[in-house]
Amino acid sequence: MKIYITLLVDNHPAPGLKSPWGLSVFVKYGSIPFLWDTGPDPAALKYNANKLGIDLSKIEFVAISHEHFDHTGGLPYIFSLQKHPLIYYPHGGSKIVENRIAQWGGKIIEISRTTEIKKGIFITAPLYGPPVEEALAMVTNKGLILLVGCSHPGADKLAERAVKDTGKKLFAVIGGFHLLSSPRQKVERTILALIKMGAKKIAPVHCSGDYAREFLKKKYPSIYLPGRVGTNFTFEQ
Ligand SMILES: [Fe+2]
Repeated sequence: MKIYITLLVDNHPAPGLKSPWGLSVFVKYGSIPFLWDTGPDPAALKYNANKLGIDLSKIEFVAISHEHFDHTGGLPYIFSLQKHPLIYYPHGGSKIVENRIAQWGGKIIEISRTTEIKKGIFITAPLYGPPVEEALAMVTNKGLILLVGCSHPGADKLAERAVKDTGKKLFAVIGGFHLLSSPRQKVERTILALIKMGAKKIAPVHCSGDYAREFLKKKYPSIYLPGRVGTNFTFEQ
């Protein structure tokens, strides 16, 4: 089985694609296509999906990391393709976005503890940043591939939760690490914690900051996965 992961929206630009501030990741886990976050606006999501030949009308669900606009703003595009999309959402937030999703006709499933939503796909118990934020963990025979949104509670804390609750070691981490304006020490500490948990591949994108990328590239080149909008990562199960 193969796992295909595409950065559908990311603020690191690439020619021919929109790169507003935000994150959206398209995943095909074996035969299951889904979306992790939606970026900040429906137009960018639609434009990039069309350019990359990704048909979001076929996705089985959307999982939202946290309520901020740069992860939820693209949702109207999903509603233009599906009448009642299934949306996993962290429990304990402000309800503003959640109420809107309900009004639009979305089928919301709130996550309050780590849950295996499909065989091999877990959404982790939300941790408080603020805001509350969940991560998504996919099982492979090398360990977990962890998708994070902005990591407001800490990428290391989200990974710890996933490792503890699934009983699997970490293999890869992809997403925003919220280290844009953090001191270098904190950036290094967070990345080293992920490596200590077993991470063999790390793709710091979105709000991870340049130093997280530089540090990994320089000190751990075999672990660093460079990513920008349009980047594809393929993993074997
Ligand atoms: Fe974000």
